[in-house]
Amino acid sequence: MSDVAARIFELRAEIAEHNVAYHVNDAPTIPDGDYDALVRELRALEAEHPELKTEDSVSQLVGAPVSTVFQPVQHRTAMLSLDNVFDEDELRAWTDRLVKAIGGNVSSLAFSVEPKIDGLALSITYEDGEFVVAATRGDGRVGENVTDNVRTIHNVPQQLLGKNTAGVLEIRGEVYLAKADFLDMNERQRAAGLKLFANPRNAAAGSLRQKDSRQSALRPLSFLAYQMVFDDAPQLQATMTSHAATLRAMDAFGFFTAPETTTQVGVDAMLQRVDWLETHRHDLAYEIDGVVIKLDDLALREQLGTTSRAPRWAIARKLPPEERTTRLLAIEVSIGRTGRATPYAVLEPVVVAGSRVAMATLHNEDQVAKKDVRPGDLVIVRKAGDVIPEIVGPVLEKGRRRARAWLFPVDCPDCGQPLARVGEESDTYCVNPACPAQQLQQIIHFGSRGAMDIEGLGEQRVAQLLGEGLITDVADLYELRVEQLSGLEGLGELSANSLVRAIEDSKVMPLSRVLVGLGIRHVGPVAARALAQSFPTYDELSHSSFDNIEGIVGVGPVIAASVVRYLEDRENRERFERFKNAGLALSEPSLSTDVAPTLSGRAVVITGSLDGYSRESAEEAVVLRGGTSPGSVSKKTYCVVVGEAPGASKVNKAAELGIPTIGADQFEELLTTGTWKATTS
Ligand code: IVH
Repeated sequence: MSDVAARIFELRAEIAEHNVAYHVNDAPTIPDGDYDALVRELRALEAEHPELKTEDSVSQLVGAPVSTVFQPVQHRTAMLSLDNVFDEDELRAWTDRLVKAIGGNVSSLAFSVEPKIDGLALSITYEDGEFVVAATRGDGRVGENVTDNVRTIHNVPQQLLGKNTAGVLEIRGEVYLAKADFLDMNERQRAAGLKLFANPRNAAAGSLRQKDSRQSALRPLSFLAYQMVFDDAPQLQATMTSHAATLRAMDAFGFFTAPETTTQVGVDAMLQRVDWLETHRHDLAYEIDGVVIKLDDLALREQLGTTSRAPRWAIARKLPPEERTTRLLAIEVSIGRTGRATPYAVLEPVVVAGSRVAMATLHNEDQVAKKDVRPGDLVIVRKAGDVIPEIVGPVLEKGRRRARAWLFPVDCPDCGQPLARVGEESDTYCVNPACPAQQLQQIIHFGSRGAMDIEGLGEQRVAQLLGEGLITDVADLYELRVEQLSGLEGLGELSANSLVRAIEDSKVMPLSRVLVGLGIRHVGPVAARALAQSFPTYDELSHSSFDNIEGIVGVGPVIAASVVRYLEDRENRERFERFKNAGLALSEPSLSTDVAPTLSGRAVVITGSLDGYSRESAEEAVVLRGGTSPGSVSKKTYCVVVGEAPGASKVNKAAELGIPTIGADQFEELLTTGTWKATTS
């Protein structure tokens, strides 16, 4: 493989992991600016080497794979992303491209200039004016059904106001937490002794994706509408020729739209307004991470069209990172689940880009030395609408004596064993596998949402179980009994039962989730899925060789070596044996890629049991064919499949609304043909 191909390969894998961290786990691990830099590097390499570009490269994708917590929803019209520009020259280059493509005079083009709200994209479908479904962007084609949670958002109309609402219409916009609501919410978290949210975007994402809509309802989310999509609303569509008109119409329907949005004619006026928004970004009620510029004329948009990931008629001008100065109080070291010892800065709290920053990572020993920051220094903290704040460097103050250069500790701050730097790496590790800090982080990670998703196994609980000597390894979780837990501080019989049940439920998790949960080096969710799809059981995986593993698409030599090393280790083998004995499935359901989308966009309600299917697998069969399988019957239901011992309410509701019902024996036919033959009985 050439160096370029290897780099492209590496970038794709890295970006895919970050996509999952950001979109699925709501827990990004690098600043947005660094992510943008990776994507730019990948695009540049792919542009120079078109022979290496693939349709499914992450550079062509939008967002991330859909999580399994919510039902999938297929978007009728793809939810695209926006291309970014980072300065005025790039913005002008975009307008030049527009003029080249559509002709005409740049001084007469009208642009909508809008704040780019830093939240989560949401699409809400209305049928004949009635709210029917709300979905996140997901991978752009399939999103997550968050209808129940969105119904709790105060400014989302359940019914559109006004008359011209016939047909199917999507209102797209951003779900976000207003700055004031975010501060209030964190204040309440603090008062209740709960973890604080890092910034409004993460808090909004976490709130929208609560499994229990009653929890979502407690979060002060808001929705701002910025786009109208006419799925099938010809009457309304005929009256709309400009984006500005759609914004007015959305206002009239009862939505909130950005009051700062204006239409500007000509490039100079547009650029001036972009500057204005940049200057006033802190005066707005919400966090913004850029300015969106859209062509106002809908017919011209149609003419320009889209690429596979973004429209050609819109662009996002990302705003430069924000910086603040504050005092560096101390440098401490934390131990992660792999034993990595990461130095971090303890800061006098400062508000940067709308969120309170009291800590910032310093990455590793070399970074601290390079930046030469010392306890007591005044330092510059930077955030680029970002998640993880970073220290830029010290501000040297005249006449102030500085502390001596900081030295990396020799021993692990948790277990006291010596720390080690391995080979050429800049990272320092605690190599004691029995280090309690590592065990704590490993078990938390195992139970986390992207891994085994064990509800109730948060940081405090794990620390308590470790402290009580009930667990030291993830395999110990499966031996916990209710009697051991009930009576521990803060754990009554009820919560002890729920925790044991949640652990029990996790046994069916697919092999890929177990691999993610074990935190094998270099194996993130994308690699784990690739591995488990090629070796769908633990036994097959554990008998595979380095060459077999390296041959899998998406798995390079580094990952393969790490997996082989992990699986050869005696302790790790023993852990898998214990998993097996405890009854973990350790297998990956096969992904059938060859099924036809016979039920695309159709809602099939299932009631009662169907021979040969569990409830989950029957619903999955519908979803695999592009349909949805909601839990209740409505006017929009395509049909109701009535199995053994059906629910009376669903059958009655179907009769009341005139929705066809079919028997269990017609389910296969429905799956393969998308329809069924009427039976006369
Ligand atoms: S228009 C097809 N307008 O930014 C283009 N997006 O980085 C649809 N965003 O996915 C997007 N404010 O979640 C548009 N005024 C605005 C926006 C906006 C925030 C988000 C949106 C989009 C992302 C792209």
